[in-house]
Amino acid sequence: MSYRNDPYDPKQAALLDPSSLEELIKLAEVAFAEEANTLDELRALKPVHLGDRAPVSLARREIGSLPPHAKSEAGKRVNAARQTVQAAYDAREAELEAELAARILVDERVDVTLPWTRRPRGARHPLTTLMEHMGDVFVGMGYDIVDGPQLELEWANFDALNIGPDNPVRGASDTFFVDLPGLVMRTHTSPGQVRTMLTRTPPIRVVSPGRAYRTDELDATHSPVFHQIEGLVIDEGITMAHLRGTLDHFAKAMFGPDARTRWRPHYFPFTEPSAEFDVWFAQHRDGPRWVEWGGCGMVNPKVLVACGIDPAKYSGFAFGMGVERTLMFRNGVSDMHDMVEGDVRFTTNFGMES
Ligand code: PHE
Repeated sequence: MSYRNDPYDPKQAALLDPSSLEELIKLAEVAFAEEANTLDELRALKPVHLGDRAPVSLARREIGSLPPHAKSEAGKRVNAARQTVQAAYDAREAELEAELAARILVDERVDVTLPWTRRPRGARHPLTTLMEHMGDVFVGMGYDIVDGPQLELEWANFDALNIGPDNPVRGASDTFFVDLPGLVMRTHTSPGQVRTMLTRTPPIRVVSPGRAYRTDELDATHSPVFHQIEGLVIDEGITMAHLRGTLDHFAKAMFGPDARTRWRPHYFPFTEPSAEFDVWFAQHRDGPRWVEWGGCGMVNPKVLVACGIDPAKYSGFAFGMGVERTLMFRNGVSDMHDMVEGDVRFTTNFGMES
């Protein structure tokens, strides 16, 4: 835009005309107020009203074409106009920023009174974590962990373990039978020994933690469903000294450095000689004492033969203990009901163990 200016009439510089300046201020104010609903929209309007090619800037350029005496006054007017537009811009910007902040506060508000749909995290059952812990101690000694079926061959649960057909433990007063002939719910984890010897060749070092079933009524110390951990080692030259050392090490790993085992002669058809063993438990809630812990012995040669292992070449030991029993005295659980009732307050008391 250029005008031929009469040196005596500054109004010929049309943009410098006070009413033009008023007009461009108004235009900018209306635009900022009505076309800019967001900060982005406002910023897009900035070059139009305040940039190099904006009317206020073009007006300033026209000052040069004015006669000298008019320049200063026109300059003041243009500057004032520019400041007014800038102030309108700044005011609108502040307004939109405040609106944005207020909207974020509303949009991102968390209503803590809303109904609670999150589920509290449970904890794993202490029997599970204890069984894993027991297994880990043996893994640390080079054992493998093996598993067996809970619905077991009667042969593996009894016959192969030298529990003859007339043995009273095979009766319905101890054993859960099922409608399928030849199968029982395993009454101990010892059939795990049988399955291991049938499928592996010595040297064998395994533990088999798992569930077992007996026709006991649920009371403070019994449950018809319970857990045992079974151990089996078969190799050349295995003696009771190995068994003793293993159980003492296990006792210390479970109960601390002063733990040790004490053995009492016992009878199991599948081990010979056999023993029951107690553990010295210093932290017992009723004071330090020997606590009955499990059964053990040297694998009976008849069992080795039944499982296809040459007793002239190999010998071995086996042991088994109850996991519920262990949890009871180790962690001061006095009632079996707590372990089976499924109240989450019991499990969560043991915390989140992985
Ligand atoms: N199976 C025996 C029981 O349930 C425990 C045991 C296992 C004893 C291994 C000796 C050897 O009582």
